[in-house]
Amino acid sequence: MQANALMFCAEDRLVWDQLFTRQIKTIEHVSYAPFKKGLEALGFHAGHIPRFEEINETIGQLTGWQIYPVPGLIDNRHFFEQMMGRRFGSTQWLRKLSQLDYLEEPDMFHDVFGHIPLLTDPAIAEFLEGLANVANKHLDNEEVIEAIARIYWYTVEFGLVQEGTKIKIYGAGILSSIGESDFCLSVRANRIPFDLEKVIDTPYVKDKFQEQYFVLYSITQLKNVLKNLEMKYKINN
Ligand SMILES: [Fe+2]
Repeated sequence: MQANALMFCAEDRLVWDQLFTRQIKTIEHVSYAPFKKGLEALGFHAGHIPRFEEINETIGQLTGWQIYPVPGLIDNRHFFEQMMGRRFGSTQWLRKLSQLDYLEEPDMFHDVFGHIPLLTDPAIAEFLEGLANVANKHLDNEEVIEAIARIYWYTVEFGLVQEGTKIKIYGAGILSSIGESDFCLSVRANRIPFDLEKVIDTPYVKDKFQEQYFVLYSITQLKNVLKNLEMKYKINN
């Protein structure tokens, strides 16, 4: 993969700098501890837009994951096939300065800042691979793929987890959004215990804050989620 540093303009660097600086402050006390550890291990900071080869060196050593460039959202088949081989697609472009607060589609700040630190956490790294393994057995079954997409959405994108006495954020969709980082832990948000059947029955929304957040009692619960998911669709297929 070629270095992507040359592709970035002055506005990109300003966008990364501003988003990074304010988001780090916002989530300092509310993000899942391994996320912060991952940020440190990767050496992400405000003054430098990370290069894919730098990222791959670190996550490759820690959990064997790699990232590869994608233009934006990709279809489920490709997404899960790649993820089964511990390959995670990331965009290589950044939003404009006028879009700092909200962008409907994922850009590099979401993909890299939000997702990549979690790929250094073995619990999340194994869960993602496991989810992709199940998906790849059911690629022609729309119902199962939709169920897995919802599980992905309410965990890796918008998940919360109990850490000691506090509820922390591990979902990349929240960690990369200044508004939702505050909202999801506020009294206005609806937080409920993670329940696989309920998650599968809950369609997701993309253009506003989530109507509910599913809270894991511990990140280790993800192992049970996978086991139960496999069992559910083994019986039905
Ligand atoms: Fe995402």
